[in-house]
Amino acid sequence: MVGIHVEVDWVVGRTSGRGLDDGRSVLGRAERFLEAEDDSGEDRAARRAFTPTSDGRHRLNEKLGVVHRVNRTHWVMPSKETHWPLFGLRVRTPRLELRYPDDDDGVALAELAARGIHDPDWMPFAITWTDVESPQLERNSLQHYWLLRAQWTADNWHLPMAVVVDGAIVGTQAVAAENFAQTRVAHTGSWLGRAHQGQGIGKEMRAAIVHLVFAGLGADIADSGAWHDNGPSLGVSRSLGYEENGEDIVMRRDVADRQIRLRLTRERWERQRRTDIEIEGLDPCRAMFGAV
Ligand SMILES: CC(C)(COP(=O)(O)OP(=O)(O)OC[C@H]1O[C@@H](n2cnc3c(N)ncnc32)[C@H](O)[C@@H]1OP(=O)(O)O)[C@@H](O)C(=O)NCCC(=O)NCCS
Repeated sequence: MVGIHVEVDWVVGRTSGRGLDDGRSVLGRAERFLEAEDDSGEDRAARRAFTPTSDGRHRLNEKLGVVHRVNRTHWVMPSKETHWPLFGLRVRTPRLELRYPDDDDGVALAELAARGIHDPDWMPFAITWTDVESPQLERNSLQHYWLLRAQWTADNWHLPMAVVVDGAIVGTQAVAAENFAQTRVAHTGSWLGRAHQGQGIGKEMRAAIVHLVFAGLGADIADSGAWHDNGPSLGVSRSLGYEENGEDIVMRRDVADRQIRLRLTRERWERQRRTDIEIEGLDPCRAMFGAV
C-alpha cells in the first residue's frame, strides 16, 4: 500500500483536466515539495492559487482514490489483493509454502510441467493434459490458471496453490469445492515436478492444504482419488489418515480403469492435527469460499 499525505486543494488545482498518471506524478511532486519546504508561507500561497471547483475535486478524487481527513488527505494505491484477496493467501509449514499463483507463478508452473511430471508411458491423471507437447502444454497450463480465476464463484471454486520450497516452485496443490457453504466437502489434487518427487514434499503439501480446509475453512470432509496403481498418491493419502471410500471405473487414456476414492473426515484429521502450520490472508477471502 502506498500512502501519500498532501493538501488536496493544491493537488487538484495542479491536475484539473489532466489524466490519472499526471495526477499521480503531481501527487509525488507534491509530497516531496511539502517535505522539503515544511509548509512555509510561500507554499501556502502557491496552494491557494490552485483552488479547484468542488465538482472537479470530486471527479479527480474518485480517479485517484483520495480519502479526505479533515483538510488533509490520504491517497491509497490499491493492490491486486484489494479486489482479489486470494493473491494474499498463504499456507506455511516448516518445510514449504503454498501460495496463490500470480501470472509469473503460472509461467513457472507451466514450464515445470513441461519438463515432466511422470513417465510418459504411464498416466496419473484422469484428464490427460500432460499428453500435450510443448509449447502447447505451457499455453494450456496458463489458460487453465486463468480459467480457474475467471470462473471462480463462491458456489464453485478451484484453488490451485503453487508449492514453494526454498524459494523455488516445485508443483501444485489444488483444492476445489461445489456449494461448500452447504456441503462442507472439499476435493484435493496435486502434482510435483519429477525432480521433486519421493522426498516427502507430496505429504507435506497435502498436510498444508487439509489444514487450510479444516482449520481455515471449517470443512467436514476432504476427499481425494487416485488410480489403483498410483503408489505415491495413495501413500500420501493413507499416511495422513484418509480411508478408502469406494472406487470408480473411469476412462484412462482410451481404457477403462479403477480409480480409488479416499476420504479424510474432520474427526480423523483432528487426531493428528499439526500445530506448526500457519495460514495467512484468509479472512478477506472467506466469502469467496462460501466459508463465512
Ligand atoms: C503424487 C505425488 C504428489 C506424491 O508426492 P511425493 O512427494 O512423491 O510423495 P512423498 O515422498 O510425500 O511420499 C508419499 C508416501 O507414499 C509412499 N509411497 C511412495 N511410493 C510408493 C509406492 N510406489 N507404493 C506405496 N507407497 C508409496 C511413501 O512412502 C510416502 O508415505 P510415508 O510418508 O508413509 O512413508 C507425486 O509423486 C507426484 O506428483 N506424482 C505424479 C503426479 C501424480 O501422481 N499426481 C497425483 C494424481 S492423483
